[in-house]
Amino acid sequence: MAKEREKEQSKETAISRRDFLKGMGTGAVAATVAPIVLVGTEKSAEAQMGEEITRAKIKLNINNRLYEVEVEPRTTLLSVLRDGIDTSGKRIDLTGAKPICDRGECGGCTIQVDGKVIYSCMMLALDAQGKQITTVEGLANGDKLHPVQEAFIQHDALMCGFCTPGFVVAAKSLLDENPSPSLAEIKEGLAGNTCRCGTYPFIFEAVKTASRKLKDPLRKIGG
Ligand code: FES
Ligand code: FES
Repeated sequence: MAKEREKEQSKETAISRRDFLKGMGTGAVAATVAPIVLVGTEKSAEAQMGEEITRAKIKLNINNRLYEVEVEPRTTLLSVLRDGIDTSGKRIDLTGAKPICDRGECGGCTIQVDGKVIYSCMMLALDAQGKQITTVEGLANGDKLHPVQEAFIQHDALMCGFCTPGFVVAAKSLLDENPSPSLAEIKEGLAGNTCRCGTYPFIFEAVKTASRKLKDPLRKIGG
C-alpha cells in the first residue's frame, strides 16, 4: 500500500517536478499548469547561480476554504500547509501534517486530495490547484471530533503523537473506501504510515472502533 501510494504519486508529480528542475521557462510552466498567475521573479541563491526562480500566485481549496498563495514551482503542498502565507498576509498554519522524512516514506504528512490519501511532501502545491484538500484539521465538525479521532483518544493510540495526524487521516481514508476492514486490511491500509513509538496495536483497535461507530453513529464509542 505504501509503495502503491508512492508509485501513484510519483507518476502524478514526475512530469512537473522534472520539468521544473530542468529550469523550464515561464511560458512552459503556464502552459502545463493552468490556471497560474505569474507574479514576477525573485532573485535567490539559484538565481545567483544562473537559474531564475519564478513565483506563481495560485488558489488552493483547503478544508473547504479558499487560500491564495504565492509559491515557487518546487514548493510542496506540505510546505504551503505549514508555512504558506496567503495573499492577505495571514499564515495558513495547518501544522497537523508533519515533515518527518520529507521523501514519501513515513506517512507523517498524510492528507487527502480529492478523497485520495496522499503524502503532501510528495505533491507540488501547483499540482493541487482545483482539488479538494483535506487535512487532519478539516476532519472535525466544529467541536465534534471525527469518530476516528475519538477512537484514537479512547484507545490511547498515541505516545509522542508525531505520527498521529497522518495515521488519523490514513485511517479515515481507509474507512471511506472500506467501512468494514478486517485486521489484515487495516494493517494493509495503514502500511504507508510509520509509528516509531510502536503504538500499532492501539491504532488498529482504534480503527476497528471507528468502523463500528461510523456504521452505527448512535453506538456509544467503545461499544
Ligand atoms: S514527511 Fe511525507 S512521507 Fe514522511
Ligand atoms: S506516537 Fe510517537 S511516532 Fe507514533
